[in-house]
Amino acid sequence: MIQFSDVSKYFDNESALTDINLSVEKGELVYITGPSGAGKTTLLRLIYRAERPDAGSVVVGGMDVGKLKQGEIPSLRRNTGIVFQDFRLLTNKTVFENVALALRIHGIHPKEIKERVNEVFGDIGLKHKMHEFPQHLSGGEQQMVAIARAIVSKPTVLLADEPTGNLDPDTATIILKLFKEININGTTVVIATHHEALFKGTGRRVVYLKEGRIQKESIA
Ligand SMILES: Nc1ncnc2c1ncn2[C@@H]1O[C@H](COP(=O)(O)OP(=O)(O)OP(=O)(O)O)[C@@H](O)[C@H]1O
Ligand SMILES: [Mg+2]
Repeated sequence: MIQFSDVSKYFDNESALTDINLSVEKGELVYITGPSGAGKTTLLRLIYRAERPDAGSVVVGGMDVGKLKQGEIPSLRRNTGIVFQDFRLLTNKTVFENVALALRIHGIHPKEIKERVNEVFGDIGLKHKMHEFPQHLSGGEQQMVAIARAIVSKPTVLLADEPTGNLDPDTATIILKLFKEININGTTVVIATHHEALFKGTGRRVVYLKEGRIQKESIA
């Protein structure tokens, strides 16, 4: 589903990623870990074409995403759910509308949108705050909404960047359960986190990044 071949990425002549070879199969759930600055976010950004590799190629669902034309990027993004490290909720829209937008771009009927958004807010336990604006929610609640927005469209690929950074352990457990569910239903999931507790004992594949290189891979 996702294939990195000899990928390197530089910022101001400094290497952020070096010679990355990584393959994520369709339907897999993989953790990317490593210390701050190791390149986790950059690796995810290459998958949804927020960055282009300086060397090598990133192929997603058969598309060489570094070579996509500007007009081809929206279709890649429509099939990709993204949980940003800094949430990026639209502050001029309620959290309900933030999540609904992810379905509107698929041209789904308003009635179905309402049902699905209601359901996902039920899943994350925030139905009572559905019509608030993001800035009136706590950091953890905003993170939950960002996750709801990423999963509501049942994307082909889900990329989650430090998705439990602001969550208490119980809430983090709920989120991991949602990721597991969406994965069982066929979505390929890549989770970047430096929280080892998140994947310890899950039996999932873990890729360790250090200073922009894959240091090792193991099963958690
Ligand atoms: N747009 C950019 N311009 C310049 N340097 C960048 C840019 N994006 C990332 N970098 C650099 O690339 C390296 C990897 O950054 P990245 O954000 O991918 O790390 P990370 O593993 O996600 O860290 P964290 O755990 O803190 O989120 C860092 O040295 C960072 O300073
Ligand atoms: Mg990061």
